[in-house]
Amino acid sequence: MGKKAKRYWRLGPVKDLGIDLGTANTIVYVKGKGVVLKEPSVVAISLNTNSILAVGSEAKDMLGRTPANIAAIRPLKEGAIADFETTRRMLKYFIEKTLGKNLWLKPRVIISVPFGTTQVEKRAVIEAAHQGGAKEVFLVEEPLAAAIGAGLPVEEPVGHMIVNIGGGTTEIAVISLGGIVRGVSVRSGGDALNRSIIDYLRKNFRMEIGERTAENIKIQIGYATSPKSEIKMEVRGINLRNSLPMALELTGEEITEAMQEPLTNMLTGIKKIYENTPAQLASDIIDTGITLTGGGALLKNIDKLIAQEMNLPVTIAEDPIDCVALGTGKIISQMKTLTRLALYHV
Ligand SMILES: Nc1ncnc2c1ncn2[C@@H]1O[C@H](COP(=O)(O)OP(=O)(O)OP(=O)(O)O)[C@@H](O)[C@H]1O
Ligand SMILES: [Mg+2]
Repeated sequence: MGKKAKRYWRLGPVKDLGIDLGTANTIVYVKGKGVVLKEPSVVAISLNTNSILAVGSEAKDMLGRTPANIAAIRPLKEGAIADFETTRRMLKYFIEKTLGKNLWLKPRVIISVPFGTTQVEKRAVIEAAHQGGAKEVFLVEEPLAAAIGAGLPVEEPVGHMIVNIGGGTTEIAVISLGGIVRGVSVRSGGDALNRSIIDYLRKNFRMEIGERTAENIKIQIGYATSPKSEIKMEVRGINLRNSLPMALELTGEEITEAMQEPLTNMLTGIKKIYENTPAQLASDIIDTGITLTGGGALLKNIDKLIAQEMNLPVTIAEDPIDCVALGTGKIISQMKTLTRLALYHV
């Protein structure tokens, strides 16, 4: 057997991929290998030549720091594809990075899309994946993939509630028998929390900070509720009164206050969905509780806040950021056994 043939044999004729195409991060799962790629969903493009300069973390570092001839773009906004062409190029780049430039190796791909993605948007994602090199494309709604990745028995006739707090959106869904019974996508996720911190500093201290700084503040001293009184952080920014640098010491309490509005939006969404859940499933959820996934599940005390407000048990999934990608991976690996699962395929 020649070298090439051997390699072909080892890889098998198709490689199956699961992709969590997120507003903040894209995560790729390869069947048999697990998560192989996790990069920010950012692309840097040269405006002179229209060529790609960087994708992923390298491009993320360029956000807000580009000269006139470079654009650093986040092609997905609020969970939806805002820039189709850049999304296509990004998907192509990530698929190639995962599998190598193997023209004959056309993968079968399953991609998660936000709950409530329209038919037109679904077609756009499928087209982007085809143009990115996929042979066959399946779509799964993100909360369903998140629930599977979190290890919930989604195909059973039992209600489970999943709250996936991503960058762009928070998706809330009640799942039973492999499908979403009630769901909503709220446009308040991790990005909205960052923005609320930016607004708070502008309003209260006339200080301007960038998105990256806001995210750092949130991760380091942000508590959804009951912040520790001793927690503090020094933050640098620009004084809006005179455009000069300034520094402030912020407390955890201030950040909790700053994040009130987006947190309330999330809670309102959860309450609405629960209220509209059929009685039998709603009573299942008293036992099965709410499972949190997505990067926002790492916000300190978010589980405590939701448990307090809903009076339901709340669990943070293991590896919450990876849940959606793990779910797409499980689906692609067990496609034959997951017969009840609601997938989209054209
Ligand atoms: N330790 C942390 N504390 C609070 N927030 C965090 C933490 N780590 C990550 N995040 C936030 O999680 C968000 C990203 O989550 P995730 O990767 O699940 O989003 P996404 O899947 O790309 O977005 P979407 O699902 O909306 O398309 C970001 O807003 C990030 O700031
Ligand atoms: Mg997500």
